[in-house]
Amino acid sequence: MSLLQGTNDLISDLSDVEKREIPLIDLKRLKLDQLEREECMKEITEAARKWGFFQVVNHGVSQEVLKNMQFEEKEVFRTPFGIKSQENFLNLPSRTYRWGNASAINPKQLMWSEALHIFLPDIEKMDQHKSLRSSIESFVKVVTPLAENLVQILAQELNINFSYFQQNCSANTSYLRLNRYPPCPFPSKVIGLLPHADTSFITIVHQDHIGGLQLMKDGKWISVKPNSEALIVNVGDLFQALSNGLYTSVGHRVVAAEKVERFSLAYFYGPSIDAVIESYATPPLYRKFTFGEYKEQTMKDLKEGGDKVGISRFLL
Ligand code: OGA
Ligand code: NI
Repeated sequence: MSLLQGTNDLISDLSDVEKREIPLIDLKRLKLDQLEREECMKEITEAARKWGFFQVVNHGVSQEVLKNMQFEEKEVFRTPFGIKSQENFLNLPSRTYRWGNASAINPKQLMWSEALHIFLPDIEKMDQHKSLRSSIESFVKVVTPLAENLVQILAQELNINFSYFQQNCSANTSYLRLNRYPPCPFPSKVIGLLPHADTSFITIVHQDHIGGLQLMKDGKWISVKPNSEALIVNVGDLFQALSNGLYTSVGHRVVAAEKVERFSLAYFYGPSIDAVIESYATPPLYRKFTFGEYKEQTMKDLKEGGDKVGISRFLL
């Protein structure tokens, strides 16, 4: 499937999108008796199969931690463009700050957003931005165990040993992406964030109250109603390959709002570069690959076509 197909008829379908509730799962039940726990786990695996997307509440990431992140996110994006766009902004590697779409090869691939793409081991370099750094650290400290817990549940259903993730993934192999969508005077003509699927095992997203995130369900775009208490969880490409297509890495996009800015925060739980991703079942749908190969392929595709193509590249 080419997710980019969605961008060709952007203008016709951006505004006319159904609002639907995606599964909302109360994780409090994981701490109750075995029956409750098993039912909750079943809801998680079912949502990952049928939707590739769900929301969770009672997830263990406090409102305080989320509010702090949001505050710091607003502050950092308020930095003048001339500074944000400097090579060493925040003392982080180049390409940490991104805006529009540097890979666009046609106007339909332009995006009305800016982002900070932060590889977590790098945050210790942010010595001039202590409060942003400490908010990120507090967030990562609680979101990582949440991601691990969810991944463990998804893996258990497939009889994949959690040690695979313990060996290949940690807070130090994960990414954080802070997104800002400025008010867009022509929201039906230019997209906030292009249709894409995530390069991760799972992604955990917090969005503010504005709305605009849309996902593909049964061949149609639907929009996710904001819920400030909830975190959004979605399956990424790597889990789709590992689960032999059982869990789906679903295409999603963001439509910018006309009058107001929107902020979101995404935590990508992924492995180290040398991790091997192999379908757990036979016959495999995807060939075995390393995460490094996957990244190389997506970078090549981005350069050549403006789109990362993704996991379909590894179909057998
Ligand atoms: C992403 C993403 C969604 C959002 O950063 O990959 O899909 O709501 N973000 O901003
Ligand atoms: Ni995404």
